Amino acid sequence: MVEPRLQGKVVLITGGGGEFGRAIGWRCAFEGADIVLADLNHVSVEKVAAEITETGRRVLPLPVDVTNGEQVHAMVNQAVATFGHVDVLVNNAGIFEHTPFLEISEASWDQMFGVHVKGTFLCSQAVLRHMIAAQIHGCIISLGSVAGLVGFAASEHYCAAKAAIIHLSKAMALEFGPLGIRVNAISPGTFQTRMNSWILEDPMLRESSLKSIPIGYFGSPEDVAAAVAYLASDDGRYVTGVNLVVDGGQITHV
Ligand SMILES: NC(=O)c1ccc[n+]([C@@H]2O[C@H](COP(=O)([O-])OP(=O)(O)OC[C@H]3O[C@@H](n4cnc5c(N)ncnc54)[C@H](O)[C@@H]3O)[C@@H](O)[C@H]2O)c1
Repeated sequence: MVEPRLQGKVVLITGGGGEFGRAIGWRCAFEGADIVLADLNHVSVEKVAAEITETGRRVLPLPVDVTNGEQVHAMVNQAVATFGHVDVLVNNAGIFEHTPFLEISEASWDQMFGVHVKGTFLCSQAVLRHMIAAQIHGCIISLGSVAGLVGFAASEHYCAAKAAIIHLSKAMALEFGPLGIRVNAISPGTFQTRMNSWILEDPMLRESSLKSIPIGYFGSPEDVAAAVAYLASDDGRYVTGVNLVVDGGQITHV
C-alpha cells in the first residue's frame, strides 16, 4: 500500500478552474493535501472546488487575476489565514492564442506575457516571502510547455512566454535552493484539452500531431498532475532547477 505523499501540505494552484488545474487539484487532494484553487474564472473555480471536496480534503476557491499584484498578495494572505501555511505553489494559469506573427497585437503580446511571466513572477514572489518568513521548505512548480523549448509557428508570443517561465524557474532554483525551497518547471506536449481544440478538431493537424508523438497518443491532464505530485512530494526532494518534459517523446526527435 502506497502512502499519500502530500499529507499535511497545502497546495496553491493558479488556473485552478481549468483542465490541468482540476486534475492537479484532484491528484494533490488524493495525495492528502488541502487545496487552494485560484482562477480568474470564479464560476469554474467554485465548481472544481466543490468536486474536489468529495475527497474529504479542504478546498478554498479564490477569484484571482494573477497579473494583479494586490490580488495575488490577498490570495496568499487568505490561503495562510485559512490553512496556516502554503507549502506548494503551482503556477498553472495560462492562455493560448493561435495567431500568425504579423497579426499578433501589442495588447495580445502584453496579455500573453502578463498572465504567464508576470503572473508567475508575482505569485512566486508572494509565496516565497511567506515560505521564507515561516521557514517552510516548500516547492514551486510552474507550467512551461514544449513550445518554450522548440518553436511553433503562429504562436510566437506563447512560445516566448513559456521559454521565459522555464528560465525563470532555473534562476529561482539557484537563489532559493540554499533556503530549502525547490523550484521546477513542467513542460507538457500536445494534450487532449480545450487549449488544443484547433489541432484536435482538424483531421490533418490531428494526424500530423499524433505522428509526432512516439508514444502514440495525446497526453491527458492526469499525466501532468502525476508529474506535479512527484515534484511536490518528498520523492522529488533532490530535484530542483529542472524542466520536466511530459510529452510522450514529442520533442525528442525535433
Ligand atoms: N493544454 C495543453 O495541451 C498544454 C500544453 C502545454 C502547457 N500548457 C499550460 O498548462 C496550463 C494550464 O492549461 P489548461 O490546458 O489547463 O488550460 P485551461 O484554459 O483549461 O486553464 C487555464 C486556466 O487559467 C485561468 N486564467 C487565465 N488567465 C488568468 C489570470 N490572469 N489569472 C488567473 N487565472 C487565469 C483560466 O481562467 C483557466 O481556468 C497553462 O499554463 C498552459 O499554457 C497546456
